[in-house]
Amino acid sequence: METRQSLKDTNVRGQTVLLRVDYNVPMKDGKITDDLRIRETIPTLELLAKKGARRIVIISHLGRPKGQKIAELSLAPVAEKLKELMPEKKIFFVSDVSGPDVEDAVEKLPVGGILLLENLRFFPGEEDNSAEFAREIAESTHADVFVQDGFAVIHRAHASTSAITAEIPSVAGPLLEKEVTALSKLTTNPAHPFIVIIGGAKVTDKAPLIAKFLKLADRIIIGGKIAADYNDGTLDEENAAVLKNNPDKIYIAKDFALDESGAKLDVGEQSTSEILEMLDGAKTVLWNGALGYTENPEFAKSSTKLAEYLGTHPDIYSVICGGDTTGFVENLQKAQPELNFGLISTGGGAALELLSGEALPGLESLDEK
Ligand code: 3PG
Repeated sequence: METRQSLKDTNVRGQTVLLRVDYNVPMKDGKITDDLRIRETIPTLELLAKKGARRIVIISHLGRPKGQKIAELSLAPVAEKLKELMPEKKIFFVSDVSGPDVEDAVEKLPVGGILLLENLRFFPGEEDNSAEFAREIAESTHADVFVQDGFAVIHRAHASTSAITAEIPSVAGPLLEKEVTALSKLTTNPAHPFIVIIGGAKVTDKAPLIAKFLKLADRIIIGGKIAADYNDGTLDEENAAVLKNNPDKIYIAKDFALDESGAKLDVGEQSTSEILEMLDGAKTVLWNGALGYTENPEFAKSSTKLAEYLGTHPDIYSVICGGDTTGFVENLQKAQPELNFGLISTGGGAALELLSGEALPGLESLDEK
């Protein structure tokens, strides 16, 4: 964070703040099924209020509408959720991102008011990283300062992560800083023993991550689809080679719970016990990707045991990342509020890219300022 200016050190008193967040939340039938990414922006909104920001205009994307206006991907339900979470705030929504409706809504915002704009990806300029699109947003909102706090989207070079920083003085927000600092520590100076657990349904992006952690971690534990495919002999060559060539460092689950068709949908009891034994004495654990198909409680047993273990061992600094894993852990926490974790990251792809040492355009554009 050397060259990046922080909101914490920026005077925003009396100013209009344009705040980029990641409200790309999972939705089912118009309802938000996991509001972690919304809740995690509350401290930033409170900090802005404390610093005396005159008004806050929030921008975000939701889903992948690819430049089309798709009603189901409107951010309107997110504005409702935000009102529910912050009932004391004056929160408004406008179904555009620039132009007269936005100007009007910004002008009418009461002091301390919050305005959420519509889904940025309804407009092709967002993903095209268009300078013109960014300029239109800057001009319509009359923003004095841009705060990048959408950690989960900083791996994209889009108008709201890149081009916008050429239009408005730009600083890093506290959620972005918290996540970058915590995750960067894992790639430089984690407390040992450091154990990385990798599961999940997506197998393709895992090989570079595993290769990276071979250097940093004391042990890597593999569950989820990647372990099932490995045992079935159907894993792609790149991943299979990394797993096969490092037997001293990598543990791959070997027994599984099966569905009627024989598909391996969860790590079995024997491997789950072995995994928990390996965690004994660990100081840092990074967990990315559920061990089984957690949508079905029957196949969520190993992930539940793992989450319960990590959540009840305060001596372990645990970092949970990846959309499916964080949603699962958060739901479990609702039933068992005593479970505590070091960091539940809002980042999916962004966390993975940061951890595997990729450059992140959304950070680089702040660094250039
Ligand atoms: C995410 O959920 O990882 C971010 O919101 C980025 O979304 P994207 O993968 O559609 O760019």
